[in-house]
Amino acid sequence: MTLRTVEWKNNSVIMIDQTKLPNILEYVTYTDYNQIADAIRTLVVRGAPAIGVSGAFGLALAALQSNATTKDDLISYMETAKKILFETRPTAINLAWGLEKIMEIAKKSDTVENLKNDVVQYAKKMAEDDIQINMTMGKNGSELFNDNDTIMTHCNAGALATVGYGTALGVIRATKDSGKNIKVIATETRPIQQGSRLTAFELKHDGIDVSLIPDTAVGYSMANGLVDKIVVGADRILRTGHVYNKIGTYQVATMANQHKIPFYVAAPLSTFDMKSNPEDVVIEQRKGSEVTGIGDKKTAPDGIDVINPAFDMTPPELIAGIITEKGVVNTPFEESIKKLFQAN
Ligand code: MRU
Repeated sequence: MTLRTVEWKNNSVIMIDQTKLPNILEYVTYTDYNQIADAIRTLVVRGAPAIGVSGAFGLALAALQSNATTKDDLISYMETAKKILFETRPTAINLAWGLEKIMEIAKKSDTVENLKNDVVQYAKKMAEDDIQINMTMGKNGSELFNDNDTIMTHCNAGALATVGYGTALGVIRATKDSGKNIKVIATETRPIQQGSRLTAFELKHDGIDVSLIPDTAVGYSMANGLVDKIVVGADRILRTGHVYNKIGTYQVATMANQHKIPFYVAAPLSTFDMKSNPEDVVIEQRKGSEVTGIGDKKTAPDGIDVINPAFDMTPPELIAGIITEKGVVNTPFEESIKKLFQAN
């Protein structure tokens, strides 16, 4: 069984507290949407699909929390909650997607009671769908990988970044389940080490062969023939095929291009942003202390200036294919992505 990151149970939301991993596997329970907003902000839950569903759960909690007696008042309470949840993290489009879906359902409901029930049922369905979508995506992607491949991944796009199973790690799981023998190289992913804390933890938990490297060994690993293919997740993909993902992804993709190693991205359709242009995408800038220390240990001089972007953009020309639940798309991406959505 892979880990279940977020779940709705008895009108509350249960999550793995990812800030405690890999040392402690602890679950937290929330009944207030403000707690969900805090959990997203402080990375108790992180990863684009996981925060999409968490946002939806948060908005469902808000509906239950409200004392409104009319539908209009309840919608207006939910709009306030939506804004608070939306403002937690700016880059992953899945958060806006999850919140919008719940508001759509709420607006279609006729009475206060039905609305509360409808949004809870819909949010629960989104969570179940997430796992199924990841499994389908995994199957689609597994065909791109061969027996005895060593696959590099960056950050954590696994069960812990989704409701379960994972996007990039879902592809890796499905490849293994198809009977192919594979190995994984996980980058540490400084500054907050989603690779070592989360990817290494979850692959080890599931018995998948994984070696950890510092981010600085990406070039070495490729130059020395240790990597056959790369697969990463995404926080947002534009209609042009520009991929926003964890800081350092662009470096991995550039290095892969230099060594002619195929670089794949795995993401559900809910990660595509068909409206924005690159200049519209806000890259989250995080606090300097993530860079000036590791955990509680200080590793830089006091008062040093820090630049700490959480995401970067990989241009389409560096990408061999984007794996989705509807199939794998290739260059020219603008055309193939358009077709993907037309077929939907
Ligand atoms: O800052 P994080 O940990 O939320 O960043 C996560 C990533 O960048 C993942 O690669 C991305 O969300 C894809 S998750 C399936």
